[in-house]
Amino acid sequence: MQNYLLSKYNSIQPRFTITKFITVFTFILTSLFLIYYILFKDNLPTLSIPVISRDSSNRSILPSFFPVINRELIQTDYQPNVISKAQKPSCLIVIRTADGAMGNRMFLFASAYGLARLHQCELYVAPWILTDLRSIFLVNLNQTPVHLITRDSVVKEPGLFGRYSSCTLFDDLLRVPLKENLTRYEMIGFYQAYGYFLKYRHEISYLFQFNQGAIRPNVPLVEQLLKAVWNIPMNLGNYTKDNVTHQYLKSLLTHPSVPLMPVTWIGMHVRRGDFLTFFKIDTSVDYLTFAMNYYRRKYINCRFLIASDDKNYVRTNLGHNSDVFITPKSFFSGDDLAALALCEHTIVTGGTYGWWAAWLAGGNVIHDLNYPVPSQNCIREHYFPPWFVFPHAKSNSTKSRR
Ligand SMILES: *[C@@H]1O[C@H](CO)[C@@H](O)[C@H](O)[C@H]1NC(C)=O
Ligand SMILES: *[C@@H]1O[C@H](CO)[C@@H](O)[C@H](O)[C@H]1NC(C)=O
Ligand SMILES: *[C@@H]1O[C@H](CO)[C@@H](O)[C@H](O)[C@H]1NC(C)=O
Ligand SMILES: *[C@@H]1O[C@H](CO)[C@@H](O)[C@H](O)[C@H]1NC(C)=O
Ligand SMILES: *[C@@H]1O[C@H](CO)[C@@H](O)[C@H](O)[C@H]1NC(C)=O
Repeated sequence: MQNYLLSKYNSIQPRFTITKFITVFTFILTSLFLIYYILFKDNLPTLSIPVISRDSSNRSILPSFFPVINRELIQTDYQPNVISKAQKPSCLIVIRTADGAMGNRMFLFASAYGLARLHQCELYVAPWILTDLRSIFLVNLNQTPVHLITRDSVVKEPGLFGRYSSCTLFDDLLRVPLKENLTRYEMIGFYQAYGYFLKYRHEISYLFQFNQGAIRPNVPLVEQLLKAVWNIPMNLGNYTKDNVTHQYLKSLLTHPSVPLMPVTWIGMHVRRGDFLTFFKIDTSVDYLTFAMNYYRRKYINCRFLIASDDKNYVRTNLGHNSDVFITPKSFFSGDDLAALALCEHTIVTGGTYGWWAAWLAGGNVIHDLNYPVPSQNCIREHYFPPWFVFPHAKSNSTKSRR
């Protein structure tokens, strides 16, 4: 039938065969593409864009479509050394007291940075807060447009206005110009509202890059995970265990080379410890199982990497699952945070530490309903970014709303 049509066609236009037509057509198409490529090659979309983006919620779908990705492309978006064309600062943001643990301090610092950046203020951070943050992160403020003040006499000058916040996004701090009485402003308490720094999230990720002390214990962990999941040795490429980057370790887990089966890594933080007595809340195995099953249905080959201040609880309740890995007992909280941030998506039970693990990992987040507790007076919309999702409310667990 086809031959018949072909010959009929040929008999009408014998000099213009289908083969010739295809050749010419292909040639034109190739030429057009080459011209387009030469003219627009700088503007062409690249595969790296969705991969680099730390908070595109469906980033993890990409590896299975594009298994070959240059590992060095996966890095923070922020390019240090931006040329600042700003005027001299005319306001000051101060943080010098910080209660709680690392997660609280990260919030306070990130919010202070965000406000200083927004209003082009100088930033005073008490040395002990910087020292504490630098026990885990680089906090390379020199490479950002915000000017850090180190002389503590600035906080003794008159006119410093201090205000407490647990997790309120004060809208007077987001108005321009800043009201006169807010131009020398001390942030007291917690300021656990991501709205203060969302706009500068790439700079925050840059500041919160893990230091080598937090990365190093994760090298043998990644080595074990590669062995357990794919039975392959770890290849550090041009790095050694003393200068390997967090991004590189993450790429080893999340972008295995082509013939290896792709895996989706879910970080999970189970907070118990002081929460049982202080906030009188516990997480439930029901919630953890629900969240794990949600991801198991949503993504291929999920593996869960769990960190907790109660690893025995995790081992007892979840240790029997073959897709569960628990971080070593020897890990400090900074090592655990770096481990959780190696993952693509996150399950959080409560607390700011888990919140930050989720933020640093990028990806999707499932959060338990029982935190923040009502006494914290948090407006949930100020504390939770919109991409944090929650299980359906079980009869009595929504009481923390507002
Ligand atoms: C996934 O990414 C695509 C393309 O970037 C976007 O259009 C879509 O809305 C995203 N889906 C979700 C669920 O975020
Ligand atoms: C700052 O001053 C304005 C009046 O200019 C006042 O309405 C506002 O309440 C003051 N803000 C604070 C936090 O005291
Ligand atoms: C090591 O560095 C060289 C030169 O910079 C580069 O060509 C090569 O791809 C790198 N190897 C790995 C495994 O990253
Ligand atoms: C890491 O350290 C080794 C040994 O000091 C050095 O040869 C290598 O170039 C370093 N790699 C990078 C990417 O800095
Ligand atoms: C929910 O709370 C109400 C009263 O506050 C109580 O009567 C009820 O038994 C609780 N339900 C569950 C499932 O705990």
